[in-house]
Amino acid sequence: MVTSGPETILSIDKLVVRYRARDTGPNGKLAVDRLTLEVQRGEVFGFLGPNGAGKTSTMNVLLGFIPPTAGTVSLFGVPVDRPIARQRIGYLPELTYYYRFLSAEELLRFYARIFGLPAELREQRIDMVLKLVELEHARKKTIRTYSRGMQQRVGLAQALINDPDLLILDEPTSGLDPIGRMKVRSIIQRLKQEGKTVFFSSHELGEVETVCDRVAILSQGELKTLGRVDELVRQYECDLEKIFLKVIGYSSEP
Ligand SMILES: Nc1ncnc2c1ncn2[C@@H]1O[C@H](COP(=O)(O)OP(=O)(O)OP(=O)(O)O)[C@@H](O)[C@H]1O
Ligand SMILES: [Mg+2]
Repeated sequence: MVTSGPETILSIDKLVVRYRARDTGPNGKLAVDRLTLEVQRGEVFGFLGPNGAGKTSTMNVLLGFIPPTAGTVSLFGVPVDRPIARQRIGYLPELTYYYRFLSAEELLRFYARIFGLPAELREQRIDMVLKLVELEHARKKTIRTYSRGMQQRVGLAQALINDPDLLILDEPTSGLDPIGRMKVRSIIQRLKQEGKTVFFSSHELGEVETVCDRVAILSQGELKTLGRVDELVRQYECDLEKIFLKVIGYSSEP
């Protein structure tokens, strides 16, 4: 459903994530440092930052996998510690460990059941998402026989099975060839046309630049830049990759 006027779909307010493990020292490891941002309905939002910046940690809080050390996080206006907040979201994890001995359609049936889709709708949705990620030809083959890119696409199909209003995708194009990346990009654009909201992390800055309305750039857990892609490009007078290197403080000079 597309409503008029802005509606906050995802809200992160002064989020802190600190890991305390045996090997992280007495203060632990500060992975996310007072991060604040909001994503509105219908936006495609790129969540960027170098390796270790805190992207997956933030997403893990959004998914309710780890509790925030401090701060509040809500989806559709509902705090994420309430499971209902996650009902209308689809999620693609960074590393997909699927049940390798299931076929794509068996896996999707399993997830469709988890979401409580009625039987008639279930098969319809499975057909639809398999078509979308172009895996119809391989639907009966076990996932362990899939290439890396096919596994990534089955992950995306899984994230879409419940027809979610918000998609949280952790590096959806990782491991994909240029054609695969282009296809994921067109899937994201199609979801946007349907009024869905997409929040995703990526290191493919060229793609991010074409597909995202807004981006956030994180470095060492801190928000360095937040804005519309077109405005940032105008303001910095260079492409997103150069902006990225600038704001994270990278310099090629010795
Ligand atoms: N379970 C954990 N215990 C201790 N430290 C952790 C844990 N998970 C992540 N970290 C640390 O927190 C920081 C942020 O990690 P995170 O995985 O959120 O980064 P990221 O932005 O997703 O990076 P990448 O682009 O490599 O996926 C890193 O320094 C990482 O080593
Ligand atoms: Mg990550």
